[in-house]
Amino acid sequence: MSFRIQPAAPARPNRCQLFGPGSRPAIFDKMAKSDADVINLDLEDSVAPSDKTSARANIIEAIGDVDWGNKTLSVRINGLDTPYWHRDVVDLLERASDRLDQIMIPKVGCAADLYAVDALVTAVEAAKGRSRRIAFEVIIESAAGLAHVEDIAAASPRLEAMSLGAADFAASMGMQTTGIGGTQENYYMIHDGQKHWSDPWHWAQAAIVAACRTHGVLPVDGPFGDFSDDEGYRAQALRSATLGMVGKWAIHPKQVALANEVFTPTETAVAEAREILAAMEEAKAKGEGATVYKGRLVDIASIKQAEVIVRQSEMIAGR
Ligand code: COA
Ligand code: MG
Repeated sequence: MSFRIQPAAPARPNRCQLFGPGSRPAIFDKMAKSDADVINLDLEDSVAPSDKTSARANIIEAIGDVDWGNKTLSVRINGLDTPYWHRDVVDLLERASDRLDQIMIPKVGCAADLYAVDALVTAVEAAKGRSRRIAFEVIIESAAGLAHVEDIAAASPRLEAMSLGAADFAASMGMQTTGIGGTQENYYMIHDGQKHWSDPWHWAQAAIVAACRTHGVLPVDGPFGDFSDDEGYRAQALRSATLGMVGKWAIHPKQVALANEVFTPTETAVAEAREILAAMEEAKAKGEGATVYKGRLVDIASIKQAEVIVRQSEMIAGR
């Protein structure tokens, strides 16, 4: 048993991160008016190389001009293997208003990737006298990223969130799929002659959750590509929530409500969690560490489980 207390992740809702290409400023207002907790303006893979410079300019202008309300505002910069990323960072920090909350670093492969961006960000912040410290979020979307996931989670005090990027991850791993998340037709078991589908993303998600929880970072499920498949999105999001992830990306506005639905604890779940806490209070008053709630064992660990749900619901309500 470690004597260290597990650090808390940032206490802000992160149920849905809505993405939009920086080359499509016509949708920025719509993004701002959505119900997503986090907005990700993209400079990376949804922007063609010929549009990188204009997309940067669009985003810098919109950060100051659009009313983003109380959303977390994030910009996804280009990867460290491109000729764009340093200009993304320098221009954003020199020219964008203080409304920018964080930058998202894609395709992170090792802790030194964060160190490099941190060094650049720290220097520009100091040179410009920026009053608000920019936070980081990263995408784990390569074999190296997953192999070094725990080092990455510990790499920078700026780091607040970590997402799984299913498409690039699948490509890097050599997985035989072109789907972005969700059920994979060929990943099944046979039992009594029947096919039963397993979840090929499970171990990557669980590894990310463990690394994040160890270091006080928010674990987030990334994109689900087929935005015509609501049931598929919901199933993927429910699995992620069950594993401890706090939210999921939306690559189309219709996915925002689905994510919010799944990652907001239901009234029934919150009521049950409160009943478990009350049952344990009663047990404690009698000097007992365990008791029976609805025919099942609850004990001191159940208090912590119930508190996760109550805390999540209070944080969302207090938003
Ligand atoms: N955020 C907010 N609004 C959006 C939006 C987004 N990401 N994408 C589309 N909309 C708006 C459209 O402007 C349209 O608005 P209207 O009803 O006022 O005309 C409405 O939502 C319906 O859009 P639709 O026609 O269904 O989609 P589209 O063909 O315009 O765009 C995508 C589809 C997938 C290309 C677009 O949603 C998109 O670019 N998504 C983000 C991609 C991205 O950032 N990827 C990187 C992370 S993986
Ligand atoms: Mg990617």
